[in-house]
Amino acid sequence: MGQQMILHVTLLFLLLSLCEGQSSNPERPSCQSCDRHLSCDCTRGGFTHVPIVTDRALTLDLSFNNITTVTDDDLTGHVRLRALSLHGNRVAVIHPAAFDSLWSLEELDLSNNQLTSLNPEWFEELGALLRLNLLHNPYRCVGSTPEFRGLVRLRRLAFGGPALEEIKMAALSGVTELEALTVHANNLSRYESGALADVWPLGRVTLSLHGPFLTNVALASAVLGDVSYPETPIVLEDLHLIGNGSVQPLRAAARRRVRYLTFQNLSVSDEAIVGVLEILDGVPVTLFSLDGVTLTGEGRWEKASWADTSSMDEFFARNVVVLDVFKFVSFLQLKFLLQYPRKVSVINSRIFVIPCASTCLMSNLQYLDLTDNLLTDMTLVETLCDGNGTLKELRVLNISGNALKCLSTLSRLVVTLHKLTHLDISRTRYSSMPRTCSWPSTLRYLNISGAKLTTTTPCLPTTLEVLDLSNNDLQDFTVALPVLRELHLSGNKFLTLPPGGWFPNLQTLTVQSNTLNMFHRSDLQSYPRLQNLQAGQNKFVCTCDFVAFLQSSIKGDEDVRLTDGAESYVCDSPFYLQGEPVGQVYLSIVMCHRVLFVSLSCGVALFVGILVCVLLWRLHALWYLRMMWAWLRAKHSSRRRRRLRDGAGSEALLSFDAFVSYSEKDAGWVETFLVPELEEPREADEDSENRRAPRPLTLCLHKRDFLPGHWIMDNIMSAIERSRRTVFILSQNFVQSDWCRYELDFSHFWLFDEDIRGEPAILILLEPLSKDNVPKRFCKLRKLMSSTTYLEWPQEEERRGEFWRTLRNALKGEEDE
Ligand SMILES: *[C@@H]1O[C@H](CO)[C@@H](O)[C@H](O)[C@H]1NC(C)=O
Ligand SMILES: *[C@@H]1O[C@H](CO)[C@@H](O)[C@H](O)[C@H]1NC(C)=O
Ligand SMILES: *[C@@H]1O[C@H](CO)[C@@H](O)[C@H](O)[C@H]1NC(C)=O
Ligand SMILES: *[C@@H]1O[C@H](CO)[C@@H](O)[C@H](O)[C@H]1NC(C)=O
Ligand SMILES: *[C@@H]1O[C@H](CO)[C@@H](O)[C@H](O)[C@H]1NC(C)=O
Ligand SMILES: *[C@@H]1O[C@H](CO)[C@@H](O)[C@H](O)[C@H]1NC(C)=O
Repeated sequence: MGQQMILHVTLLFLLLSLCEGQSSNPERPSCQSCDRHLSCDCTRGGFTHVPIVTDRALTLDLSFNNITTVTDDDLTGHVRLRALSLHGNRVAVIHPAAFDSLWSLEELDLSNNQLTSLNPEWFEELGALLRLNLLHNPYRCVGSTPEFRGLVRLRRLAFGGPALEEIKMAALSGVTELEALTVHANNLSRYESGALADVWPLGRVTLSLHGPFLTNVALASAVLGDVSYPETPIVLEDLHLIGNGSVQPLRAAARRRVRYLTFQNLSVSDEAIVGVLEILDGVPVTLFSLDGVTLTGEGRWEKASWADTSSMDEFFARNVVVLDVFKFVSFLQLKFLLQYPRKVSVINSRIFVIPCASTCLMSNLQYLDLTDNLLTDMTLVETLCDGNGTLKELRVLNISGNALKCLSTLSRLVVTLHKLTHLDISRTRYSSMPRTCSWPSTLRYLNISGAKLTTTTPCLPTTLEVLDLSNNDLQDFTVALPVLRELHLSGNKFLTLPPGGWFPNLQTLTVQSNTLNMFHRSDLQSYPRLQNLQAGQNKFVCTCDFVAFLQSSIKGDEDVRLTDGAESYVCDSPFYLQGEPVGQVYLSIVMCHRVLFVSLSCGVALFVGILVCVLLWRLHALWYLRMMWAWLRAKHSSRRRRRLRDGAGSEALLSFDAFVSYSEKDAGWVETFLVPELEEPREADEDSENRRAPRPLTLCLHKRDFLPGHWIMDNIMSAIERSRRTVFILSQNFVQSDWCRYELDFSHFWLFDEDIRGEPAILILLEPLSKDNVPKRFCKLRKLMSSTTYLEWPQEEERRGEFWRTLRNALKGEEDE
């Protein structure tokens, strides 16, 4: 016992030390989370080393782990890998040959790591690389060696971070053409002029030059000037423009005649804005965009009203915060800014009204987007000048995400906009519709998604080609829209598809996330021109019809294409299919052709039944059964009778000498010969020594002695019991012709059990009858015939005396002895 204990403890230690040995050994973990598109998501797995992933992986996302090193064989074999992300790790060391086997790599993200320098050898073999992100690493210099020389196909490059101090001449050498360049250089202090130049064509350039704009105008100007081209959208991030001085770097861009200028995360004073407007005087900037702007001033920009901004076609502002709203001056003074743009968006900027007077200034306006502001019905009336037809060029009005409630007010306001084609009133509070409304006859597009509509009325303009009613509370939609091409009904409460007859031109229908149970080919055929359907994310009842139809649609065998992907179609019921994609459900024949199956199995059952019946009939099973039943009953009543009798204590009730069992057809013989001979014996023959007449015997004949009204079987039983012997009159009739009678008689043999009576029956053969002539199923009779000697009825007159004597003797039996 003690020894065993010690053994166990030792084993345990052994195991423990083994485990420890394993964990101290830096063995690479593995990551199994690859989906069927071979995209491996190993984010936030706590990995400290690059995990082992299948060689076949196409994308590998290792972001937000604790990887510090990438060794030379961490990624060997990944020749098919297209995208690798190590974003948000602590990578400080990358072996020069670490990426050498990644010949197919198109996208590499090394951002937010601890790389203190960039090594050109990393990228030498990455000839296929299109996108490289090196942002937010603590390297201080780019371009001391031509880091990106090998990347001949590079199209998107991002580098820099808070530590970047220096950009040297070789930074972009070898890079000829870019779609996007991002440089974070808020702390840049040295720039070799021309380092970012000479890339052409150059797509969108995003620069963060917070520090240089404030402290080193020359440096900021040099950087900005090198990347500014008329076709290149320039995005300036994180600037803090306070005085006239801080905006001067923009002159470099203005000189290069930039046309698309965007500021992101900008804080700006009035003075700086005036400075910017002065700089942009006469510059063909067509898009001026502000995304995330804090205005510290009061809107006093009229000092720059002389500046020519007539080329400004589009003004876009989003997330504008005015620090001191109540001091902010009226838009009226900004006529010089408002009169030119054709496209104005002011999104999510707490605008609650644009005074009609300002609206009137926007004479060129074709597109107005005031999404996500604080407009109400009342202020909208002011903004649109009570529907007097200002903004007569307006084609698109987007007032989504405002607290608007009254659709008839809106309809009244826009009906005078005779060129209006697009109206976006999504995410508003239009919960009901008036019965009728009037709309500009040009209106083609209406978006009322995300309102609270519960019903629709013919208020909807019949000129619509695109109608979005998604995310409302609609249950049906029956408004005739003869030219409608696109109808969006997702996120409502539709139980069935709306009748297609209302939309003779409909080509695209989306009804995702409703309560549709199923739809059929016939439903879709009611839309004469439907081509695309998106109906996923519904609670589908996977019936055979539906599954078959959907699977053929997924295969593309139907006229209507399912454009939202087979995965969105999932069974909700029956229960055992819940969660199964409809495309992969297999329903058995039993499920799908139930009627056929039932009728077929009924047919088979019927056939088998008939076959069995025929077989039983052929084998006389019924007869056996009936006999068995009769025997059981008889046995039962016999037992009951015996009990009664025993209870009465009476001596044997033997009242007959013999019970005669015979076929009805042999009745003649019985009546003419047997009965007279045995019951009324004549004087014995003269020649007999004993002249005394034989004692008359009493016979039990069913015709005569059975009690009427009693069950025949009981009668037979009691007859047998009350008779000392049983005489069977056997003949062909007995065996063959008289079946019913024979059955009855035959049952005697069953009853003829040893426990009833010890003595064998007496068989009389009226005609020669071999045992073999008796049908096999009368086995008892056959047995009896072979075990008992039988008397044959002699045809010759002279032998009959002998016959009767023998019979009489047999009947008297031991009684006489
Ligand atoms: C990474 O390691 C540090 C310390 O070593 C730990 O605090 C942090 O939680 C780890 N991060 C992850 C994602 O495991
Ligand atoms: C910015 O650069 C200066 C030197 O030019 C350096 O001392 C400072 O640490 C840098 N800032 C950051 C955040 O790296
Ligand atoms: C916005 O810019 C300021 C500097 O002007 C910077 O400190 C801040 O982090 C930036 N915000 C974002 C969200 O980038
Ligand atoms: C801003 O400075 C530029 C030159 O540095 C000067 O020409 C311009 O007049 C100034 N603008 C204002 C409004 O002070
Ligand atoms: C309205 O603005 C939203 C948000 O900017 C945009 O998604 C939508 O497409 C715009 N609608 C139209 C008709 O331009
Ligand atoms: C309608 O507006 C919603 C929300 O503003 C937007 O998501 C949706 O794409 C728009 N519908 C169409 C058809 O443009």
